[in-house]
Amino acid sequence: MNVLRFDSEAAWTQAIASLWRDRLRVKPDLKMCLPSGTTPVGVYAEMSRTAREGLVSFKNSSVFALDEFGGLAVDDPGRTSHTLQRQLMDSIDLPRSGFHVLDPDNENIAAHCAAYDVAIGTGFDLVLLGIGLNGHLGMNEPGSALDRGTSRVELHPSTVQSSARYFTHHNLPQWGLTVGLKSLLDASEVWVLAKGSAKARIVADTVRGDIGPSNPASLLRRHPNAWLFLDDAAGALLDAR
Ligand code: PGA
Repeated sequence: MNVLRFDSEAAWTQAIASLWRDRLRVKPDLKMCLPSGTTPVGVYAEMSRTAREGLVSFKNSSVFALDEFGGLAVDDPGRTSHTLQRQLMDSIDLPRSGFHVLDPDNENIAAHCAAYDVAIGTGFDLVLLGIGLNGHLGMNEPGSALDRGTSRVELHPSTVQSSARYFTHHNLPQWGLTVGLKSLLDASEVWVLAKGSAKARIVADTVRGDIGPSNPASLLRRHPNAWLFLDDAAGALLDAR
């Protein structure tokens, strides 16, 4: 895993957006998997701004939502699909047919998840991920099987608790649908984005700790093309020893 550290959040944001634009220029039909969450908000804003200025096009690419919360109203603004729609899709030229989302209300979840994996097909060119405080990737919590495809999963109690910041109500989701570790680990390129001091501990564990399913993010150390983008605060504990 390649670790890239930036002096400021602004530099972190610009670097990620610049590399992302580059990937789209080199491969306009880039197949991406994208997260919601607080971490990528600034990156999505920068991609939106540059897309509006015509500096980047998503026209021939495709985007798969990384996950989706279950048990929420269809129009809950905290759902992953709505968040991605607002923060990125509304500003880019990706055709509606190129935006794939998970539907936790589907009456046949197993078939729906299997169809998502079929649509992912040969795999992602680029996966962007945040990192959970417990190392989860998407909704792949510690202990998740490495060969799992897209599936319904229960959220860890700490994940439920930290999801409160995405919602304006107290009906916090206890489960969700997520792209499985298999597709994440099989991707051609994976970028893990982490910023802020709250992530410093899990970042240090991910870079220096044991590799194994108890910290899903650590598994990316075996990936040939995984990148960890850190701002100064998220990388702070890497200097500690
Ligand atoms: P965050 O979430 O970007 O809101 O910190 C990341 C995660 O929990 O996967």
